[in-house]
Amino acid sequence: MRERIQRHFWAPAYDRLARLYDAVDWFTGNTTHRLRKRALRYLPPSGSRLLEIGFGSGRLHLELAERYAMAGLDRAPGMVCLTKRRLAAHGRRSSLCVGSAYALPWPDGHFDVVLSTFAFSAFPDAGRALDEMVRVIRPGGKVIIVDAGEAADGNLFARLLARLWELFGDYMRDEVVLMEARGLAIEREEYGPGRCVHVVVGTRPA
Ligand SMILES: C[S@@+](CC[C@H](N)C(=O)[O-])C[C@H]1O[C@@H](n2cnc3c(N)ncnc32)[C@H](O)[C@@H]1O
Repeated sequence: MRERIQRHFWAPAYDRLARLYDAVDWFTGNTTHRLRKRALRYLPPSGSRLLEIGFGSGRLHLELAERYAMAGLDRAPGMVCLTKRRLAAHGRRSSLCVGSAYALPWPDGHFDVVLSTFAFSAFPDAGRALDEMVRVIRPGGKVIIVDAGEAADGNLFARLLARLWELFGDYMRDEVVLMEARGLAIEREEYGPGRCVHVVVGTRPA
């Protein structure tokens, strides 16, 4: 059912309504943008090679492109167009493409970091997406995932929100388990209202 919601509702919505995505963020006082920016704390020094998967309207991507050698992939052509325009308007560069998180068009070990914010929970086959993320980072590189989910303290607010995301077609999962199974060393932080957002950083052994 959730896979169908992703395929038949969210995929066309992200493509055709890309411009609305920022409007929603604006109406909520930029909350999502503040939450996704938490990932910046875990990034290496400027100049590293960074891939963002499911960058959406590209607000974070634009900020990253000021400091890193960027590439990005998103399934929605509308989001890719919007982000290309956003980068061009600010004179920033990134190698952007339309594609699937399940088949990244880069060679093994190509990036220092692969980052994804609020997109991982939209991938029905998380294991396949994570295998690809791990494949394209170099030994010692990082996979950084920001997403919503239940909090470690089991609080009701985060639990209810997680059920709501599931109704909308998202998959609430424990990225720590998935990353550990692939041999990554883990750091995890919860934050936001009810600690309902987390960042999980997995480092590939050098
Ligand atoms: C909820 S939006 C998140 C956008 C942005 N990263 C943010 O923090 O708000 C999810 C994004 O992931 C993309 N996406 C969903 N499934 C994907 C897949 N299988 N491969 C690549 N991108 C995908 C969507 O097109 C959309 O732009």
